[in-house]
Amino acid sequence: PAASAFPPGFLWGVATSAYQIEGAVGQDGRGASIWDTFSRTPGKVANGHNGDVAADHYARYEQDVALMSELGMGGYRFSVAWPRIQPDGRGPADARGLDFYSRLVDSLLEKNIRPALTLYHWDLPQALEDEGGWRNRDTAFRFAEYAQLVSEALGDRVKLWGTLNEPWCAAFLGYGNGIHAPGAVDPAGSLIAAHHLLLGHGLAVPAVRAAAPDAEVGITLNFYPVDADTQSSADLDAAHRIDLLQNRLFLDPVVEGAYPADVREHFERVCGTGHIEPEDEKIIGAPVDFLGVNYYTSYRVAGGGEPSGPSPWPGAEDVRFLDRGLPRTGIGWEIDSDGLRRQLVRISQDHPGLPMYITENGAAFDDTVDADGGIDDADRIAYIDGHLRAVHQAIGEGADVRGYFLWSLLDNFEWAEGYGMRFGIVRVDFETQQRTPKKSALWYGNVAVAGGLPH
Ligand code: FCB
Repeated sequence: PAASAFPPGFLWGVATSAYQIEGAVGQDGRGASIWDTFSRTPGKVANGHNGDVAADHYARYEQDVALMSELGMGGYRFSVAWPRIQPDGRGPADARGLDFYSRLVDSLLEKNIRPALTLYHWDLPQALEDEGGWRNRDTAFRFAEYAQLVSEALGDRVKLWGTLNEPWCAAFLGYGNGIHAPGAVDPAGSLIAAHHLLLGHGLAVPAVRAAAPDAEVGITLNFYPVDADTQSSADLDAAHRIDLLQNRLFLDPVVEGAYPADVREHFERVCGTGHIEPEDEKIIGAPVDFLGVNYYTSYRVAGGGEPSGPSPWPGAEDVRFLDRGLPRTGIGWEIDSDGLRRQLVRISQDHPGLPMYITENGAAFDDTVDADGGIDDADRIAYIDGHLRAVHQAIGEGADVRGYFLWSLLDNFEWAEGYGMRFGIVRVDFETQQRTPKKSALWYGNVAVAGGLPH
C-alpha cells in the first residue's frame, strides 16, 4: 500500500507542449509560428537548435500514447499548435490541423487517459506577430476566435481545458528580455503584452464553455515563492515587486476580476494604464474551474542592485537574485521542494476554494546511458519524490489539489536551451527517435498506479 495516499480520483499524468515535441512544422498546412522564426535567428537558441523535427511526435503520437498507457498514466497534458489550426492566426480552421488533435484525443480516450488540452503554449502564428503580437490588443480577440474553433471541434471529448501556459514567460521572456520568441526587448511593451494575454484568457473562457459546457476550464501560471534576503526595507521592497510581477499580476485579476492596487501602481510607473479598457478586468475575471500550477523553484532576492540591462521583471531591474547554495538541477535551478508546499498553501489561503492541478513539475539532469542501455536517473526520481511529498503535505494543510502532471513525458526542445536540457522521464535519441523509459518513468508509473508514494 502507498505510504502517502492521495485523494481518491487524484489525476496522475505527464505534460508536453506542441512545439517542443511535434516536429512536422511544414506538414498539413501548418503556418509559421514565432518559434520557427526565433529559432532560425542566429544566436537565439543554444547550438542553433530548432523544433523542425523535435521528438517527431506528430508522426509517432500513437506510439507515445501507448507508452503512456503502459506506464499507467491517467492524464496527458498537451498543447495545440495554433498555426496548425489557423496558419495565419485568423480565418477558418484547417481541417488537417484539427484532425491531428482529434486523432490524438481519440487514442488517449481509447486507453483511458484523460486529455488535458492547453490552447496556447507560446507558438503564436507569425502572421499575428507581424501585426504586433501580444503587444497588439487585437491578438486577444484572435485568440478567443481560435479557442472557439478548437473547442467546437474537441469539446465533446476533452473535459480539461487550459487557456494559456505561463503568460509570465510569454510576456516577459518574449517581450521583456527577449530570451524567448519573438525576442523583443521592450519593458513597457512586455507589461502591455501581459495584459493582452490575460484579456485573451478572459475572452477564451466563455468561448470554451459555450462549446464544452461540462468541461473544466482554467489557466496555467508559473509560481515562485519569493523571500527577502533580510528584513531591510530595500530587500522587502524587492521581494514585493518580484512577487507582484511573477505571481499576483496574473493570478489576482483572473481569480478576483481586478488588478490589485499595487499592480496598477506598478503599471503606472512602467507603462501607464492607457491600454486597460474599462471592461477588461471583468472579462479577465471570467470564473475558472481550476488553476494550473507550474512549479520548478523559488527565489531569494535583495534590493539595491545596479539595474543590469534587460530583465524579465519590468520595473524591477535592480533586484538581485541570490544563490542560496541549494543543490541545483541540470538547468541550474535551485531545488526547493518545500517551496511547492508553501506556494500551494498560500494560494489556497489567498483564494479559498480554488481547485488546483499541478500542470508542470519536473527536472532536467544530464542523464547517462549505461552499458545495457538503461538510464538510472536517481536524481530525477529524488526531485519528483520530494515534490510529490510537498504536494501531499499541502493537501493535508488544506490545498485542494486534484492532480499532478509531470514535466515531461519525453526529452524535448527546451526553448532557448535547445535539446541540451533533458526533462523527459522517457529518453529520446534525437538521431533515431528511439524512446527509452528512464528509471524515473517506471518509478513514476508505479506511483500513479498505486495512487501514492512508496515508503
Ligand atoms: C516551463 C514551460 C515548459 C518547459 C518547462 C521546463 O516554463 O512551460 O514548456 O520548458 O518550463
